[in-house]
Amino acid sequence: MTRQPQPPASEARPHQSLITDQFGPQAAAYVASAVHASGADLGQIAALAARHRPARALDLGCGGGHVSFALAAAAGQVVAYDLSADMLAAVLAEGGRRGLGNITAQQGSVDQLPFADASFDLVASRFSAHHWHDLDRALAEARRVLAPGGIAIFADVTSRGGPLVDTFLQALELLRDPSHVRNRSAEEWQAALARAGFRPEAPSFARLRLDHPSWLARMNVPPVMAAAITALQQAAPAEVARHLEIETGGHFTLDTLVVVARPG
Ligand SMILES: C[S@@+](CC[C@H](N)C(=O)[O-])C[C@H]1O[C@@H](n2cnc3c(N)ncnc32)[C@H](O)[C@@H]1O
Repeated sequence: MTRQPQPPASEARPHQSLITDQFGPQAAAYVASAVHASGADLGQIAALAARHRPARALDLGCGGGHVSFALAAAAGQVVAYDLSADMLAAVLAEGGRRGLGNITAQQGSVDQLPFADASFDLVASRFSAHHWHDLDRALAEARRVLAPGGIAIFADVTSRGGPLVDTFLQALELLRDPSHVRNRSAEEWQAALARAGFRPEAPSFARLRLDHPSWLARMNVPPVMAAAITALQQAAPAEVARHLEIETGGHFTLDTLVVVARPG
């Protein structure tokens, strides 16, 4: 049997490099992604922004920029914030193509925001928090930069099916993307938001069907991992197959959540 040479743990890259290595080369795919460019959650964020008309809005983990684009119509200024310089360049280019002159970009990690206290009226984040390894610290930072009377909106994939479904869900996500940390449950979100000094509302839930080939292509998943995902889907017990609506061809359906929170 031939063994793959394995680097010692001391040579492994930090989690942040894993994230930028995963997302940087895929920036164009995230700008173009139909899953990210649409959705009721995006509509919810746009509607809340239209109601609040924030002078300054912050998009944490902006990825391909769809939240920033949605906020730009209602906000005075939008800061698109991400670890990946490639993502930010793609967002500015697409914002320019759309004639959105009020988006600026800033690179950094959500757990250390380079912004003054109370400097934003609206903070939003969508499909990014499942990569945050220290959710408490990131939410404390989001709370710190949110002005009194401001509003925060967090949208992400969530875990709803109990421990069995949860284990399969996180495993599928991790095989696709080694920078995945965790799809948190609504209870985890509520507790973490409260610890950070937010007053969270009851979350709203939706379902999101993922097209298997484009879900894999967006993360440039290597064949060995794609094969493991297929094997895991085929090994899923009935409870998991039912909850995730695993289809022939590997398409499946996730739970998503939106939680709105105000300073506590
Ligand atoms: C799936 S994309 C986000 C999609 C986008 N928000 C949307 O609605 O279309 C996830 C993004 O989160 C970013 N990200 C992950 N961890 C981060 C962190 N700790 N700080 C800042 N950005 C982070 C990644 O670089 C990536 O661009």
